[in-house]
Parts: sequence; C-alpha cells; structure tokens
Amino acid sequence: MDKTIIMKELGIRPGQIMLDAGCGNGYMSKLFSEAVGSTGKVYALDPDEEAIAALRNETIGTNVEALVGDISTTTDLEELSIDFIYVSTVLHGFSPEQVRGFRDEVKRLLKPGGKLAIIEIEKRPTPFGPPLDIRFSPEELQQALPLASLGTVQIGEYFYMQVFKNVVES
Ligand SMILES: C[S@@+](CC[C@H](N)C(=O)[O-])C[C@H]1O[C@@H](n2cnc3c(N)ncnc32)[C@H](O)[C@@H]1O
Repeated sequence: MDKTIIMKELGIRPGQIMLDAGCGNGYMSKLFSEAVGSTGKVYALDPDEEAIAALRNETIGTNVEALVGDISTTTDLEELSIDFIYVSTVLHGFSPEQVRGFRDEVKRLLKPGGKLAIIEIEKRPTPFGPPLDIRFSPEELQQALPLASLGTVQIGEYFYMQVFKNVVES
C-alpha cells in the first residue's frame, strides 16, 4: 500500500483529532501525528496489548495516545470527539455482530461532519489475503454503515480506500 497516496487522499488538517482503529504497530498513527501537528491528537487503538505497549514507548511526549481497545464495542473515547477515524485492513476479520458494534461505535465517536476512511483488500481473487467470502466490497461497506460515501480510490494493486462522512441533517 502506498502511504503517500493514502495521506494525500485523507487530506488531514492540523488540529484534527484522529483515531487509528486497529493501528497494529502504529506506523500510520505516526504519520497522522505529524499531519495533525501539536494542536491535534491521534488515538491509536488496538486490542493487541504488546503492540500498544511498544507504540506507547515509542510515542512518549508526542500527540499520540496508544490505547488497548476494541472498536467493535464501546471504547473509552468520548462521544462526538473524533474528526477522522482510519481503519485499515481490520473489518474483514469482523463477524456480523462486530460489524454492527463497529457501526454503532463509529457513529457515537464521530463529530458531525467527521470522516471515516476504510481500507480493505479487494473482493476478487488476489495472490494473498483472507477468503473471498469474508471480504467487503465498497458497496457492502456502504450498506453496512449509516454514513455518506464520498468515494473510493485504488490504493496499490489489491487494496481500495473508501471515505465516508457523518452527515447530520439539521
Ligand atoms: C491486518 S492488521 C492491520 C494493522 C494496521 N491497521 C495496518 O494497516 O497495517 C489488523 C489489526 O486489527 C486489529 N484488530 C483486530 N480486531 C480489532 C478490533 N475489534 N478493534 C480494533 N482493532 C482490532 C489487530 O489486532 C491488528 O493489529
């Protein structure tokens, strides 16, 4: 996956509050940290306690807060507190119940007008990756989430990124 394309497409602005959900070793959280700058903040969330402990050590004194947590349940983060949620190659591992929990938690966390970016492997035969039947197509993501799709872009040969917006009607 091309990190430069991802960062360009995300269009992160200084001062934004981001959540990297399923951050793994946090390599994208560190790029987000630079993009949001000293007035912004990045929450890096993952159930993997070892990965989070390592990331916490690496990011001492920065605007990254590494947290052990599960994005398919209610997290410790405050409601309506996040401008941008980034979820890369996490959702295909979720059961239908977890997808519903994810949908509810994303809706709880996002500020009005906030965005969600999901990266997934394409739902077609590829040289690697999970079984086809657990992969999500962009259309399936749209059906699962109560957010407006802003579009889908290709990220490298086998992955796509779809960005959603939390449109709140007044
Ligand atoms: C394939 S890795 C992707 C890591 C990183 N996002 C990336 O793009 O390299 C999937 C990550 O999702 C995390 N994960 C699995 N279930 C999760 C959940 N319920 N909530 C948050 N993260 C989860 C795993 O621990 C793992 O770090």
